[in-house]
Formats: sequence, structure tokens, C-alpha cells
Amino acid sequence: MTTRSGSSQFDAISLDRLHERRSEKWATHPADVLPAFVAEMDFDLAAPVRDAIDEAVARGDVGYAHSAELPAAFAYFARDRFAWDVDEAEIFAVPDVMAGVAEALHILSPPEARVVINPPVYPPFYDVIPHEGRTIAAAPLAQDKSGRWSLDFDALERAFASGARAYLLCSPHNPVGRVWTQAELREVIALCERYGVALVSDESHAPLTMPGVAFTPAPSVSGELPCVALWSASKAFNIAGLKCAVIGASSGNIRDKLRARLKSRPDEIESRIGHLGVIATIAAFRHGAPWLDSLREYLDGNRRLLGDLLQEKIPQARYVPPEATYLAWLDCTRLAIDGDPAQRFLERGRVALEPGRKFGPFADRFVRLNMGTSRALLREIVTRMAAALR
Ligand SMILES: Cc1ncc(COP(=O)(O)O)c(C=O)c1O
Repeated sequence: MTTRSGSSQFDAISLDRLHERRSEKWATHPADVLPAFVAEMDFDLAAPVRDAIDEAVARGDVGYAHSAELPAAFAYFARDRFAWDVDEAEIFAVPDVMAGVAEALHILSPPEARVVINPPVYPPFYDVIPHEGRTIAAAPLAQDKSGRWSLDFDALERAFASGARAYLLCSPHNPVGRVWTQAELREVIALCERYGVALVSDESHAPLTMPGVAFTPAPSVSGELPCVALWSASKAFNIAGLKCAVIGASSGNIRDKLRARLKSRPDEIESRIGHLGVIATIAAFRHGAPWLDSLREYLDGNRRLLGDLLQEKIPQARYVPPEATYLAWLDCTRLAIDGDPAQRFLERGRVALEPGRKFGPFADRFVRLNMGTSRALLREIVTRMAAALR
């Protein structure tokens, strides 16, 4: 919502208030550091989400989670946002996306199986695969001359041909911000079918496509391929600490396996889901659309503003505006920095960015910048980065 003066509800955040937050983003560093690392946004909650949480707290409703209404709320959201008619019987609650990914790997691949990922990619992918007793096979993303990232289908095919049994896709992709087109997804699925590779699709950022960009849920086009996907309101509505996500299977067979697996581990899964997370997620899925659309418009402005600011203050940094998410993946190769760029920005600029090396080999010249903040603070982030280079 933009007011007549041109300012937005998302501009109205105060640094003093943000410093009162106790979450990872605001509590990790001393107060003179401006945090732009972990994927939390700085905005106030969407009113329907805040009201749902406030009302639950007011009635003392903070017991164990009961997720029976969550699948229908997700199905409503999927129809509304992705034009996808999902059968709510195929949807289950999990505590968070990575817990769901772990379960999916168990259902879709045998122990010690090779699981393909696309570096640079969300760092916990490197942990969950070995933690679940599987091994990582890398098929790095490709980058063309303009800097645009894409899936490297030759690399994928080589990884699949080397005996991989599952493919953990990040869709939309964190950190490069690509939203895979339906054509790309169909090619992925055809390749998976040819090599007998199951698909696990992490779709955490799906609600955060930029205006005009269409998102395709993998299970909506995966046909007979064994496919499990994960969604969440946690990124788009900034409620990651409340612990709730949803998992869905593409076919009856996989759905039955998934249900059996989730039921066979009640202590580990069901009891770890946050009750307030379920309440907030249902409110977000059912009533959050107007706020989400205002947010997406604001983030669209931020991604353009970031381009302008970098052009003006740090023209050697390479930036391709993301098609989704509030995360920007910046190539610092051409900046004269010895060592880790994130360290330099932190020490000399007092601005905390996510170091590229966490996202995989060959990414140590990159940083990930969180632009889920006001335009004023985004300006300050880039000003501090530029100061660190002087
Ligand atoms: C690609 C991806 N997957 C999973 C997660 C974790 O999501 P959550 O902890 O909210 O379930 C994140 C968080 O940033 C993410 O970017």
C-alpha cells in the first residue's frame, strides 16, 4: 500500500525498534553493525498474521500444535497464487522446510544415495544430505555473459548418470533469485524420469516472486515422477521462528509413504511443529494476499533501487536483479578486496552480509545481501559497503 505522498507502509520501520528485536538477525552483532545477512525481513507483520497471533496469545492458546486445518489453507493459497489445484489429502504439516527435506530424502532415496544439488545454493543443503546418510553430487549452475544464472542441463545429466537417486532443487533459487520457468522444470522432470532420479523441490520462496513472474510448483508438472515439495509462509510473511511448513507429494504412492513416515516419527515431527506457527501460517495463507502483493511491489522497487545504488557507489560489483525473494547475490570479483568480501564489509563498513563461501565452492568472491528492509536502510547498507572499499 503506497500512500498519496508516495511513501509505503514498508518504509515505516525504525532502527531503534529493530534493535529491540531478539531474533538472529538483530541479536547476533553489536548495535553499530547493520545486519543484512540472514533471511529475515525488517517489516512489521501482515495485519491478519499479527492479529491471529495476538488473539491466540490473548486466549492463552499456546499449547501443542494441531494442524488439521493447514492442508486446506495451503490448497486455497496454491489455487490463488500458483493457479494450482492441489488435493489437500496430499499435504502435511512439518516443523520447517529442512525437516521436511530430510523426510523427503528418506522416502525417495536409499541410504548412501547420491543426491544432486546446484551450487551456489542455500547452505543447509550441504548439511541435510550427509546428515541423512546420503552423499552430495554437485551440478553447479551456469552463468551467461550477462550474468544470468541457469540450470546447466549437461552438468545435471552427468550428475544423474553418475548414479544419483534424488535431486534437491531450490525453486525459486536461493541465492541467485531465479524462478525456474515451466519449460526448465519440464526439462528437469524429463531428465529425472530418464535416469530414475526422484525430485525434492524446496519452494520456500515461491510466494515471493516479483510482480509479473509466474511460479510453477514442481508437483503440478511432475506427472508420474516421484516428487515431494516443501512450502512455507515463513519467508514471505517473516515468521520463520514460529516453526511451521507444509510438505506435499506428487502421487498416491509417495503420499502414502510420506504419511507413514511422518506418522512413524511422531516425537520428531508432529511435536516439533509450532502451534503459533500453524495459526500464523493459516492466517497468512487465507488472508495474507493483499499484504503479500504490496510487499512484492515494494521489493520490486528495492531490487531496482539496489541496482541504481550499486551503479552509483560500487559499479564494479556485479548484480543481476532476482526474479523472486529479497536476497541479492553480488559478485565482488572485480572489487579490490583481499580475502573474504563479507569480512571486509563487516570490519570496515559495519554491515553484515552473508559470505558467499557458505553457498559452495567457487562462491567465495560473492556476498548475499538481504534487501528485505526499508529503502532508507537499503541505502545505508550500500553506503557502508562503499565506505568499506575506500
Ligand atoms: C531455500 C530455503 N529453504 C529453506 C529455508 C528454511 O526455511 P524455514 O526455516 O523457514 O523452514 C530457507 C530459509 O531461508 C531457504 O532460503
